[in-house]
Amino acid sequence: MEQVTEGDVTVAVDEVRDGAADGAGSGVFYNPTQELNRDVTVAVLRAYREREPRAASYLDAMTASGVRATRAAAAGYDTTGADLDSAAVSLARANLARNGLDGTIVERDARALLYEEGPFDVVDLDPFGSPVPFADAAFSRARNLVCVTATDTAPLCGAHFAAGVRRYDAVPRNLDDHPEMGLRILVSALVRTAARHDVAATPLLSHASRHYVRTYLELNRSASRADDSRDELGHRHQCQDCLTRRHERGPHACPPETCPACGSARVVTAGPLWLGPVRDRAFTAQVRDAVDTEMGTADETRELLAMVETELDAPTHYDQHRLCKLWGRPASAMDDFLAALRAAGHEASRTHYGGTQFKTTATVAEARRATGDS
Ligand SMILES: C[S@@+](CC[C@H](N)C(=O)[O-])C[C@H]1O[C@@H](n2cnc3c(N)ncnc32)[C@H](O)[C@@H]1O
Ligand SMILES: [Zn+2]
Repeated sequence: MEQVTEGDVTVAVDEVRDGAADGAGSGVFYNPTQELNRDVTVAVLRAYREREPRAASYLDAMTASGVRATRAAAAGYDTTGADLDSAAVSLARANLARNGLDGTIVERDARALLYEEGPFDVVDLDPFGSPVPFADAAFSRARNLVCVTATDTAPLCGAHFAAGVRRYDAVPRNLDDHPEMGLRILVSALVRTAARHDVAATPLLSHASRHYVRTYLELNRSASRADDSRDELGHRHQCQDCLTRRHERGPHACPPETCPACGSARVVTAGPLWLGPVRDRAFTAQVRDAVDTEMGTADETRELLAMVETELDAPTHYDQHRLCKLWGRPASAMDDFLAALRAAGHEASRTHYGGTQFKTTATVAEARRATGDS
């Protein structure tokens, strides 16, 4: 057993295992690379209570060591944790008790628990790999907020194409903005699943970090609002030669036969993607305010949230280095590059997806002109 302190709790775990863990191995493991994910979760839970004071119950649907459930209980939520693994259940119970916190940990399939014991105000899905098998139960039995981690980024971003199509009932494409492609395929699948239950799901906060994507969806049980949420779905048509992309809202994809910018026939289509904002700006600022210095990743989490808050809503991003290579010129300092775009009348921002990545309202041709080529 090892002792681990996260935020204001200390838990015992069988094994500390770093990286993109997939559940292989023995013992109930604790993944330190997910500490940022859990720090953001605790800050979201604090901020969400201000937004929706009625929200009181929290289900950590896959609890493992119970570290997330213990932290949610410490944040004042009436917490339930579930796991199929009896060793995890014993450990999670002991971890709640070790911290003097109340809560219920059950050995149960999270889906059975949701259908038979729900509803819960907040439901957190943190499985190994895809959350899709749990989405129907979560959207039918959560009242306010569904928090979702997906670690199967290769299917989501189109690198494992067949698995992405099969799991997410969408066409992902492995293009130059793959973490955002993955996030928008995930949100699309979740919004469509929620809509099947006459529930509108709207992202309050989302981020793509390391080997996973995470999104927090607020629910509204209204068929008409569910219809409205589907209006934010659509497709992207992207030229593989000049990287020009066009987004088209609506259920049907009408891809151009050739790229309108360069005439290339190598245009690919992805979707349905979520094309709306992936976060609510004001809520993201409140989450940032709820980060405290006890959190092990406080600085990194604040930096991430500040970037997520300020980045543009454009449903894609570009890599400056990739574009400059394509245009046959050296990359410039990011601030100078963005300033040139703004001086030409376009909106432009950095993005949390990477240091050389940016978002803009300019087309690729406009960006090229604005930043150097006449
Ligand atoms: C990635 S771990 C969860 C990590 C944990 N939430 C944390 O933050 O440390 C996934 C857990 O889901 C459990 N699990 C798998 N299928 C499940 C199911 N159908 N219902 C409940 N738990 C399940 C596994 O036993 C494993 O402990
Ligand atoms: Zn083109």
